[in-house]
Amino acid sequence: MEKLIQALPKTELHLHIEGTLEPSLMLELSRKHKVNLPYTNVEEIQKAYNFEDLQSFLDLYYLGASVLVDEDDFYQLMWQYLLKCKEQNIVHTEIMFDPQTHTLRGITFETFMTGFTRAIEDAKQQWGQSSLLIMSFLRHLSEQEAIDTLNAAKPFLKHIKIVGLDSSELGNPPEKFATVFKQAKDLGLLCVAHAGEEGPAEYIWQALNLLHVDRIDHGVRSSEDPKLIETLVKLKMPLTVCPLSNTKLCVFDDMKQHNILDLLNQDVLVTVNSDDPSYFGGYLNENYLALHEALGLTQDQLIAIVKNGFTGSFLPAKDKQYWL
Ligand code: HPA
Ligand code: ZN
Repeated sequence: MEKLIQALPKTELHLHIEGTLEPSLMLELSRKHKVNLPYTNVEEIQKAYNFEDLQSFLDLYYLGASVLVDEDDFYQLMWQYLLKCKEQNIVHTEIMFDPQTHTLRGITFETFMTGFTRAIEDAKQQWGQSSLLIMSFLRHLSEQEAIDTLNAAKPFLKHIKIVGLDSSELGNPPEKFATVFKQAKDLGLLCVAHAGEEGPAEYIWQALNLLHVDRIDHGVRSSEDPKLIETLVKLKMPLTVCPLSNTKLCVFDDMKQHNILDLLNQDVLVTVNSDDPSYFGGYLNENYLALHEALGLTQDQLIAIVKNGFTGSFLPAKDKQYWL
């Protein structure tokens, strides 16, 4: 199974680039920019990664991101992840980034976009890596700040075809962002949103009906609402499920309790993704392997989910057909 997981050409559709910051690079950049962190070595960082919920993770994730300062830092971050894609046979990836995590610290769009796109172009040239960028709004901030972010991104829309919504879910429902998502749609952008990770099924309904999303990130709490499951199946709405993330953030107490295979059996278009691999203890292949070990994921189920990754991607139809 491990060999098949490695050998299959795969997609990754739910990945935060800031969540790929490995402890060693974090320490290196903290020294480079004299950013004070409460860690002195890799072991201390790893020990701190014991989360009880989404917020306890986000606190460390934003702290970690504070070491990213100049264009080369953003290049290195993206480059390291794209090398992982090559290593794990991820032939197409759709990568989220959080502009507000950086602009709030005085880092310009120009700085991170130049670093990201230079790495993406190098990987495309060197081994044909296919990548798209998803610009995510931080939902714990106001909608006006999301609108300001969309406006600031306008000179870079050649490189950004998709917007998303992430950060603290509870208390920040999709409806809070209906206007900015409408503006993004009017600019011709595709839309995704985190919904139903910690938040209730109602947030998934809102993402569908008020934000008109093309894909749901996480969405595992959809299983609490049979009518919603029926709708997701009818719409062929992809869910980007992140198993190791869900257990690390205690969405499920144990991988054995994860509902991804129940959703698959109900014909929901589920995909497997790594979310924030350096914080959650595994990249994409490790997520598939964890499902095999805990839930007995079979070869047929693996192939079905990998195919869902291409179906649920934003690749042009001819590229999807090629991989399917
Ligand atoms: N949920 C919400 N916000 C995030 C996540 C997540 O899983 N990862 C990074 N930002
Ligand atoms: Zn996420």
